[in-house]
Amino acid sequence: MNKPDSNTLGTAIVTGASSGIGKVYADRLAARGYDIVLVARRADRLTTIANDLQNRFHIRADVLVADLSQPEGVSAVVDRLTSDTTVSLLINNAGFSLLKPLTETPDDVLKNMIAVNVTALTALSKAALVRFKNKGSGTLVNVGSGAGFSPYPGIPVYGATKAYVYLFTQALQSEAEGTGVRVQLVLPGAVVSEGWDVAGGADLEPLPPSIVMSTEDCVDAALAGLDQHELVTAPSLEDEALLQNYQSVASHVLQMMFNQKAASRYSI
Ligand SMILES: NC(=O)c1ccc[n+]([C@@H]2O[C@H](COP(=O)([O-])OP(=O)(O)OC[C@H]3O[C@@H](n4cnc5c(N)ncnc54)[C@H](OP(=O)(O)O)[C@@H]3O)[C@@H](O)[C@H]2O)c1
Repeated sequence: MNKPDSNTLGTAIVTGASSGIGKVYADRLAARGYDIVLVARRADRLTTIANDLQNRFHIRADVLVADLSQPEGVSAVVDRLTSDTTVSLLINNAGFSLLKPLTETPDDVLKNMIAVNVTALTALSKAALVRFKNKGSGTLVNVGSGAGFSPYPGIPVYGATKAYVYLFTQALQSEAEGTGVRVQLVLPGAVVSEGWDVAGGADLEPLPPSIVMSTEDCVDAALAGLDQHELVTAPSLEDEALLQNYQSVASHVLQMMFNQKAASRYSI
């Protein structure tokens, strides 16, 4: 297979590329002709994936082993984003969950979840936006979750980290307006991946197949949304008016809260 025009497409950094959604992103982007930087902690898996992508698609695939719960791991990816002028796309996908009430969740898990899902994503988004805005082009994709829309039992912190991704990424879309930089928010529903085992879901009754999407369909729909210049892509949401209504109600509530007077129901 001839290598497509990778000089034009540049390099995509994919975090959480050792399994699940990130692994499929790396595969699909390599198929499109991007060079890839695969980021995660499991070096052995990343090396196997990199070799496979190079063999099948004749692109360059580099392994960047980094623990994104640690400042050094985040810095290593920021350094690559800042120093590699070919980077044109960042997929901020690494993340994890634990299905437990807050009171039963170990402190180190809480800390690491916020560090990976929020802190690392924020630092990498900033580094990418600074780079991309300077050159007037580039694409940032942040992977949130349907869990960020509404509290769901058993995932108090995970849901809140994804609500952060929802608000944060849409705020960045305003910052990027008119700069030539694109920012896409991707909101998967339930997707078959090892993420459910990491979360502890392997010990539960499996979810009905009708409500769980494959990683391939999720990423293919997310990339189709990107190709269609969508700002927010919810791969499994059939009725996109729901999303628009949600956004418009949220924005209306905010506007209505800018009010000098206390609401009359408080009788003050
Ligand atoms: N599956 C779903 O139902 C679903 C639904 C909505 C949103 N999402 C989101 O989709 C994204 C991908 O999840 P997935 O379902 O594909 O799960 P997954 O198969 O478990 O993949 C998670 C990826 O994140 C990486 N990761 C976790 N902790 C990390 C750390 N400290 N440092 C660096 N990398 C780390 C893992 O790599 P290593 O373990 O090798 O480090 C792995 O590559 C997550 O942000 C998740 O919240 C998933």
